[in-house]
Amino acid sequence: MTVRSLPVLLSDEVAADPHAFYAELRAASPAHYDDSVGGYLVSRYEDVARIYRDPTFTTRSYAWQLEPVHGRTLLQMDGREHSRRRAVASPHFRGKGLDRWLPVLASNAAMVIDQLVERNAHRLVDRLDQDEPIDLMTEFANYFPVYVIADMLGLDRGDHATFHRWYTTVVRVISNLGRDPELIEEGRRTRAEIREFFVPLFERRRREPGEDLISALATAEVDGFRMTAEEVCAYVSLLLVAGAETTDKTFGSLFANLLEEPERWERVRADRELLTMAVAETLRFSPPTQINTRETAEATTVGAVEIPRGATVLTLIGSANRDPNRFRDPDRFDLDREDLAPNTAFTGAADHLAFGAGRHFCLGAMLARGELHVGTEAFLRRYPGLRLAGPRPPDVGVKMRGPSSVPVRLRPAS
Ligand code: HEM
Repeated sequence: MTVRSLPVLLSDEVAADPHAFYAELRAASPAHYDDSVGGYLVSRYEDVARIYRDPTFTTRSYAWQLEPVHGRTLLQMDGREHSRRRAVASPHFRGKGLDRWLPVLASNAAMVIDQLVERNAHRLVDRLDQDEPIDLMTEFANYFPVYVIADMLGLDRGDHATFHRWYTTVVRVISNLGRDPELIEEGRRTRAEIREFFVPLFERRRREPGEDLISALATAEVDGFRMTAEEVCAYVSLLLVAGAETTDKTFGSLFANLLEEPERWERVRADRELLTMAVAETLRFSPPTQINTRETAEATTVGAVEIPRGATVLTLIGSANRDPNRFRDPDRFDLDREDLAPNTAFTGAADHLAFGAGRHFCLGAMLARGELHVGTEAFLRRYPGLRLAGPRPPDVGVKMRGPSSVPVRLRPAS
């Protein structure tokens, strides 16, 4: 194996099997300059985990990745600007603060999330009562997380088709590692549409705030000032997208991982404690976000490789999570894994890196936990005999990855 034989990241070969490529990178070139994206691919667990926590690796890269479509968001900010704005939304995503806006009073955050999510889960699951194979993605996973975040933002679920169109465009734009100008333009058009939709809503909620998250953002004070309409729109548009595509793909991977060997599904059915492990192991084995980007604030090194100031660095989460120096037998989906603690899998102390780490650690991790648990639980109860309707569906995508469809039979074929 030589470095010269390595393909480029944006190639059909890598898209077909990124894990073979990642294994080569980890062994031969752990900070590897890639021509197709014009940046350094960092593949080892230890390096990726450090980069998320080291301020030399800034999130300025999001200026070209996200700004055309969202405007300036949390992800691009650092220091006080970031912490003050993150602090506006974070109480709504964990702990007792959820009580402030949810119509349901509950004693703890998990219960509140679960109830909100459960309402959506049951409505969707109930209408799937049929014998023909269905696609879990188009019938369930593409809707459910968007409904949940739409509820939290106080949006009308009737506009779901519009949100879905936006977030699929946004995901294409933020996955645009090759910086295709047409996609950047498409992002700008979508941003304008999102603004047109949200600005009047923002103004109404500021005048007459409700219990929802848009009202909370529109009326919050940051350092004595209210956020502008522009800032709140960027925030809302990030939440809508960050909360949809990631959870949607995780559902697809979780069901594919469990149903690929029906014995796994049966084990989880018999012992619900295993569900937390199944979700945590899915986040390690099949993280929906496979790659994040950073930009170096100064010249630095990763491994023995010198990286200049202003360089783009790509953190390969999909690779780090399968680094054999961190996880034993990493290419195996293992419900009995001892080197992955399920109970910290949704916190900054997680062993896997699916939610990133450090300052920008996923704001919605606890919400995602609630959605994944309640959504899966609904299927376990209502369709205990759930099976794949064919072989394991292939994963697609490089930046974001997961199965695009998961055909299943809700009951065993008679
Ligand atoms: C399984 C589901 C999810 C995964 C795997 C995931 C993954 C991630 C990752 C990797 C980051 C870090 C990005 C970086 O450092 O460059 C992140 C940040 C973020 N996520 Fe998630 N996410 C998920 C669900 C959600 C949900 C449900 C929401 C909210 C509704 C959400 C909102 C956010 C926000 C706002 C940030 C930016 C935080 C900041 O910059 O401080 N995510 N997520």
